Amino acid sequence: MLLTEEPVPLSLKAYSDFRWPVEFSSGIERYKVPHGRSFVDVFESRRSIRELKRVPLDLLAGALLFALEPRWLNDADALKRTKRPSVSAGALHPISVILFFESDVYLVNAERAELERLLFPEQKRRHWIEKCHQVLPKANGAFLVLIADIARPEIAYENFESLLLRDAGALLQTIGLVAELFGLGFCPMGVLGTEVANSFDSNNKLWAVGTGAIGGTV
Ligand SMILES: Cc1cc2nc3c(=O)[nH]c(=O)nc-3n(C[C@H](O)[C@H](O)[C@H](O)COP(=O)(O)O)c2cc1C
Repeated sequence: MLLTEEPVPLSLKAYSDFRWPVEFSSGIERYKVPHGRSFVDVFESRRSIRELKRVPLDLLAGALLFALEPRWLNDADALKRTKRPSVSAGALHPISVILFFESDVYLVNAERAELERLLFPEQKRRHWIEKCHQVLPKANGAFLVLIADIARPEIAYENFESLLLRDAGALLQTIGLVAELFGLGFCPMGVLGTEVANSFDSNNKLWAVGTGAIGGTV
């Protein structure tokens, strides 16, 4: 993998999206977006918050949906491009947010506005939470792992790798700003989450591209 190589668009080929091991789905209630704060206020106030407390799952899911939900999509588009608040190379938005909340693991399905509880090995979940707590010992909310499904980037671009990391950076910033807007705290983490991605898929089709802690401010 060469992160320094120039991405080049390719002609379209067939692909198959990764199929997540969904146990149970429920709709995410759209949270009323907090009003009364200007963009400048939110922009200037956002800071990484490392001490966090638990908040209800529906608040986290509502905030994440606001950050991630497509504002435009075209069902007929072969590459399933969408327009969302974050920038994304080729409008592919290949990154999903996996939410570790209490003892469950969820996929925030932004296209369907659903929270999908995923099958995930309990021992690996515990190891992952322990690792996150070593980074941020006072983060007692939830943890996020950003996982890219490479299926579409891989067929859309030669040398697609760097695009995933650039998308991930944009997404971390969007989530940070939305957390601030919703009165939540958020902190990115340097740990990558590859063991989480590998727990779902051993074929190297899912790449962990970022992690963070989110929760209530103390
Ligand atoms: C990719 C990335 C990884 C980070 N990793 C950590 C981390 O492991 N631990 C931590 O306390 N903060 C981490 N941060 C947060 C930075 O330390 C923080 O953004 C920086 O100090 C600036 O502070 P601000 O976000 O409050 O403006 C990370 C930020 C990014 C973008």
